[in-house]
Amino acid sequence: MKILLLGSGGREHALAWKLSQSTHCSQLFIAPGNAGTAGCGTNVDILPTQFEELKKFCVEQAVEMVVVGPEEPLVKGIYDFFAEDENLRNIAVIGPSKEGARLEGSKAFAKSFMLRHGIPTAAYKEFDLDNYEQGVAYLQAHPTPIVLKADGLAAGKGVIICQNPVEAMAEFELMIQQSKFGDASKKVVVEEFLTGIEVSLFVLTDGLHYVMLPEAKDYKRIGVGDKGLNTGGMGAVSPVPFVDKPFMKKIITRIVEPTIRGLAEENINYKGFIFLGVIKVKDEPYLIEYNCRLGDPETEAVIPRLRNDLGALLIAVSQQRLSDVKLEIDPRDTVTIVAVSKGYPGEYEKGFEIEGLDMIREDDAIVFHAGTRLEDGKTLTNGGRVLAITSFGKTISQAVEKSKAILEIVQSEGMYYRGDIGYEFY
Ligand code: AMP
Ligand code: GLY
Repeated sequence: MKILLLGSGGREHALAWKLSQSTHCSQLFIAPGNAGTAGCGTNVDILPTQFEELKKFCVEQAVEMVVVGPEEPLVKGIYDFFAEDENLRNIAVIGPSKEGARLEGSKAFAKSFMLRHGIPTAAYKEFDLDNYEQGVAYLQAHPTPIVLKADGLAAGKGVIICQNPVEAMAEFELMIQQSKFGDASKKVVVEEFLTGIEVSLFVLTDGLHYVMLPEAKDYKRIGVGDKGLNTGGMGAVSPVPFVDKPFMKKIITRIVEPTIRGLAEENINYKGFIFLGVIKVKDEPYLIEYNCRLGDPETEAVIPRLRNDLGALLIAVSQQRLSDVKLEIDPRDTVTIVAVSKGYPGEYEKGFEIEGLDMIREDDAIVFHAGTRLEDGKTLTNGGRVLAITSFGKTISQAVEKSKAILEIVQSEGMYYRGDIGYEFY
């Protein structure tokens, strides 16, 4: 089977690495990919949102499956674009329909879906220009911290945790009146702040059945000890020690199963990954968010633990045969450490050479590329997050040490990483 994978980050390199090992994958294309994915298949110079160009490529190359990495093409309806085109409808698209992708594309839709299906989540209200004054009154009366969320996609920046009413009011005005996040913040979800620890869960569903991939925890802050600015993610660990069997059972019965049932009841086509952002408050799980894709950098920690053939698994998804599948998971810990450009998440320069990549053996660790590109045989930095180094260990700290050792060998000017990923679990 010829597979086309969409995206260009560390998540996509991990998926490309895994798909390239599938006995079902005769040829792998990655659009647009990065320097790492070029080693797993053929990079194609098309962006994931260029649907017409993707169509032409799929027809020309007789692609049989499209695996969608990032959320944007899903929210823009790539699944429906393929399903509604007679030349494309036989191609299996791994990812939800446009309606299903609203679980990520609209926070208000996600919250009302949770309410309709009795899924535990933070209490909330939604406001826009029409009920703006009610929103102001609500914020004045509500204890802080309080969470403001732009309804639409805002490149991961649309959630603001406000510590006092003055800040909350100012952000509320910026979002709704001044279009801080463009159309995405025309509507704002105002949510109760929950105190607890977070975990990322990954469900793969065929619309009727599901399997759970290993859980992971990501580290979003730039600085050691979870200090400083938010980033796209500085590292991840899997499994997560506080997710024990009883807690997982609560997640399954209260969140996962009502979600899958809810999608089916509402006739929402969903054949793909669902990312659940769960917070553990005392011993109870609450759903903070849905994403309609895998997480990054969680994927780089999760996918290496999966022993199944990913191609076979995705064929089972497309044929609604996931009930026949049993996942086999490597019991060892994985730790992913992300190396970023100097200055990230603020301004940073690109184009620095990355050295030492040819000195790494695959059995030491896996070097996934995030923001890289090839030029004249050299690998250059090409983004804020540059590499994601995943190592296995009998313990989390052993895996951390291995990834850190790799980052002593693989170097680029000004590259920075957090050496304390998973620190709570050492
Ligand atoms: P999101 O963009 O929805 O992933 O939210 C970003 C981050 O904001 C989450 O990962 C949480 O750390 C935090 N967050 C979102 N909603 C809440 C909430 N209701 N209570 C506490 N923290 C939250
Ligand atoms: N690591 C969080 C995300 O992918 O949204």
